[in-house]
Amino acid sequence: MSAEFYHESVLAREAVALLCPAPGKLLFDGTLGAGGHAELLLAEGAAVIAVDKDPRAVAAASARLARYGEAFRAVRADFRDAKNVLAVLGIAGVDGALVDLGVSSPQLDDPSRGFSFRSSGPLDMRMGGEGETVAELLARVDERELARILREYGEEPFARPVARAIKKAVATLGPGDVIDTTHLAEIVSGAIPRKVWPRRIHPATRTFQALRIAVNDELGALAAWLDSLPSILNIGGRAATIAFHSLEDRMVKERFRGLTHACTCPRDLPVCACGAQVSFAPVTRKAVQASNGEIAENPRARSARLRVVERIR
Ligand SMILES: C[S@@+](CC[C@H](N)C(=O)[O-])C[C@H]1O[C@@H](n2cnc3c(N)ncnc32)[C@H](O)[C@@H]1O
Repeated sequence: MSAEFYHESVLAREAVALLCPAPGKLLFDGTLGAGGHAELLLAEGAAVIAVDKDPRAVAAASARLARYGEAFRAVRADFRDAKNVLAVLGIAGVDGALVDLGVSSPQLDDPSRGFSFRSSGPLDMRMGGEGETVAELLARVDERELARILREYGEEPFARPVARAIKKAVATLGPGDVIDTTHLAEIVSGAIPRKVWPRRIHPATRTFQALRIAVNDELGALAAWLDSLPSILNIGGRAATIAFHSLEDRMVKERFRGLTHACTCPRDLPVCACGAQVSFAPVTRKAVQASNGEIAENPRARSARLRVVERIR
């Protein structure tokens, strides 16, 4: 893999095994990234259609996987539009689908993308380069709305004081002044009492996560993706998701539970009266987590949760 676009794929062996790639199967990768998962699926003989919002990911992975010829196709798109992407390619359904959520290492490591506070960069954080930047979001929303974003998407217990400090800094910017990533991290750290700073993460981590989720509408994309599964998967096809934070994992767990338990009768009804049939079966009963070995090599894997369902009718 090229050194400039390297991403260590998480739960790769587990996800690939559960997707059962084989010659003659067509699989959909909704988060191509550096192409690590896609490559393993291709290596097993499956054909892969992949999308990513980030044109740089599509270009780098396409170059890297070009040797698979027609077995591999990559399109710049949002996985929420999977159904349309497949329709445009004339494909009615796929035999398996994967999303490995979040950002890739090349996105995090490029200071000009603004995802990280480890080096100075603009407050951007857009994965696809379209829509509102974080700087624009901070200028647009009021303190109350910003606090809601930090609480809901970052689970930040100090959402209100952090939002107040950010809005104060934004309000005092002179013409042409900007807040960069390291400055924002300082503002956030300053708004949280030092004695309650989280032990394992930087005090600004939750705020950065919340702002990234907001500008990329990550939960909206995930909800649309989960809704699209019945219409993009062939019978026998599996859907695998790898989530990295509890909000996403909760949404996946609940939606998969809905797909695999069709009955809508009240719980106290002794016998099912609605007659609804399930069209999905669970493949993983509990979320699959990374081994200690993988976590030792790639600490990002610690929070990964893989869940898989199969379309049965
Ligand atoms: C964790 S990385 C995927 C890494 C990849 N599985 C690999 O092994 O190299 C997540 C990727 O998904 C992309 N992404 C995130 N949300 C997306 C969405 N809604 N639609 C399409 N791509 C998305 C990001 O741009 C990023 O490249």
